Amino acid sequence: MYRIAVLISGTGSNLKSLIEDSKAAGLYEIAIVIADRNAKGINHASENSIPFLVLDRKDPLLSDKVLDAVKGTDLVVLAGFLSILKGQILKEYKDRIINIHPSLLPQFGGEGMYGLKVHEAVLKSGKLISGCTVHYVNEDVDAGRLILQSIVSTEGATTPEELQARVLGKEHETLTTAVRMLAMEGSARGMR
Ligand code: GAR
Repeated sequence: MYRIAVLISGTGSNLKSLIEDSKAAGLYEIAIVIADRNAKGINHASENSIPFLVLDRKDPLLSDKVLDAVKGTDLVVLAGFLSILKGQILKEYKDRIINIHPSLLPQFGGEGMYGLKVHEAVLKSGKLISGCTVHYVNEDVDAGRLILQSIVSTEGATTPEELQARVLGKEHETLTTAVRMLAMEGSARGMR
């Protein structure tokens, strides 16, 4: 079975949807959940008997510790993970780390652009659409090759929280679809 590691920093609603989807689809399994702080989302891992590891986002060896913990998995999924991975993991897991970002990249991305800040900036810009992006992770923040995007209308959204909720619903669908696609592709490659 295709095995993924899921990295989180917050409430873990994307993790929850991946857990549900992994059970429904039977295409991949979540081998480990890693948090870079005491994230609320860890509860989803413990409630579903998924091994988890809590690291310290201020630890200079964070990326190396993540690499040690994900070894043996096929894909690393950043699902609301707010630390920036650096060094060896980006080499060893080249094209095997993906991230979900709550905007239509390349717009409203880059270091410091995360969570509500993204939705604030989108509303301020007056754009009629927003959305989310699943992309590969490389050395440049939010700039790796795109995998999948979904759009939502910003119409009628008056607060960043409102837009965030709208985009988050799409994120769950988009991230699980992207992981299914990569799992099918990875499993097919393994069979050849
Ligand atoms: C999601 O909106 C995700 O796109 C965002 O954090 C939220 C996590 O929600 N990630 C970033 O902003 C990364 N740049 P969740 O913990 O409920 O899945």
